[in-house]
Amino acid sequence: MLESAQTSPYRELAHLMSEYRKRQREGEVVDTQDYHALRDKLAHLKSRAGGETWSDIWEMVDHYLDDSVKTAHPLYFNQLWAGQSEPALIGGVIELLANTSMYTFEVAPMATVVENEMRAVFAEQLGLSGWESQVTTGGSNSNFLALLLALNKTLPEYKNAGIGASQPRVYVSAEAHYSVDKAVMMAGLGLGALVKVPADTRGAMDCEALKQLLEQDKANGKTPCLIVGTAGTTVRGAFDPFTTLADLANEYQCWLHVDGAWGGAMTYATDERKFLTGVERADSFSWDAHKMLGVPLMCSLLYVRESGVLARSFNLGDTSYIFHDDADSHDLGPSSLQCGRRVDMFKMWLEYLFYGHHGFTRRIDHFMQLSALAERRVEQESALELQADRWINNICFRYRPAGINDTETLNRFNQTVRDRLKAAGSTFVNQAYIGDELTIRLIIANIDVVASDITRFFDLWMHESRQLEQEWQ
Ligand SMILES: Cc1ncc(COP(=O)(O)O)c(C=O)c1O
Repeated sequence: MLESAQTSPYRELAHLMSEYRKRQREGEVVDTQDYHALRDKLAHLKSRAGGETWSDIWEMVDHYLDDSVKTAHPLYFNQLWAGQSEPALIGGVIELLANTSMYTFEVAPMATVVENEMRAVFAEQLGLSGWESQVTTGGSNSNFLALLLALNKTLPEYKNAGIGASQPRVYVSAEAHYSVDKAVMMAGLGLGALVKVPADTRGAMDCEALKQLLEQDKANGKTPCLIVGTAGTTVRGAFDPFTTLADLANEYQCWLHVDGAWGGAMTYATDERKFLTGVERADSFSWDAHKMLGVPLMCSLLYVRESGVLARSFNLGDTSYIFHDDADSHDLGPSSLQCGRRVDMFKMWLEYLFYGHHGFTRRIDHFMQLSALAERRVEQESALELQADRWINNICFRYRPAGINDTETLNRFNQTVRDRLKAAGSTFVNQAYIGDELTIRLIIANIDVVASDITRFFDLWMHESRQLEQEWQ
């Protein structure tokens, strides 16, 4: 520890942050270590708990940072988020510093204004002006809230009596995020209520199949309650046909929720914005700013078309100690499922203030250009193949060693290459499945990534793959 930290941990923190921001982009992406080795590193600190010394704190901070994955490294492509934008990062620190909770205006006056302003700014950007909204703990949570709203709407007694004898059904693409399954489970519907609709060859929901399933369920006395469309599926980045989904939701009188956790950011894309056509006809729409917009986790929004539904569905409970000021209240708590809630929108506010809508468009268009570059490289390498048509910045590919055609061996080969590159710390990319085929899912969502990083990634991939191919011969 620096001596000064004894008196000024904040000065030490500022120094450490600026050093780490540099370090995070250099060297190995990850130093892969086994769980027990990591735990052993902490044993001596654990035994010193209660010592009230800053040196222990800084030692622990060093361990934490040294042994964390460098998620802002330009060769980190593993998740649907990477890196972080600096204004938003500062926003996160300041938000912790002020430490308030979003339930009442009284305790979070400026934060309430900031949140309201941000929700309105993005509603307008998304073409959802006038919609109500709620900041949620993430895309998973938004999907859950959307289901609760749909249940409240389609089953008038849901809030007081639960689902009773009704048999609500939820329809979602087979390629949608698993959080919809969890939402159905958490709402107490049982997983039997979830209907997985097949996807077409490009990964979008097959609406013919959906119509048949809706018809069949209706004929069997079930209640179609919610259709979940996805704007940007987790693996392929596909977009469901929202206009057709809206027509079907209308015909079968169910709620349409669009999960735009990932692809909602296409609102800023010059060419890909068209994929969001029809979301304005949904009943609810969710979006994660902590994914493609580079805001540190978490920062997520749920928009709802009909006014009053959020409060009607979620407002209940104790007002003996909180929410006293009912009449002309600016309190945001009653429309939320949370009590204590962080001021996630402050990060977004600083990000927006710094870059504005134009900056976001530049950024998202840049991701699309880099993704096109990655796609071209896959097409140019005869040993690589694209496993899915590219919609946005998900590039799904694999290496095909000469003479190997069976899925199981191809899967094992590509998994091995991916694991070796990660073990070496040179790059960290995700593997996923499309059907039973393993695919390498490259995600370009770090604002610091440039064309040479994409070239470097593929050079590393090709080198490791050729090496393994030789070993397997
Ligand atoms: C399409 C989609 N929806 C929802 C989620 C869940 O988002 P969160 O991690 O914010 O809960 C994800 C996460 O990757 C996703 O890809």
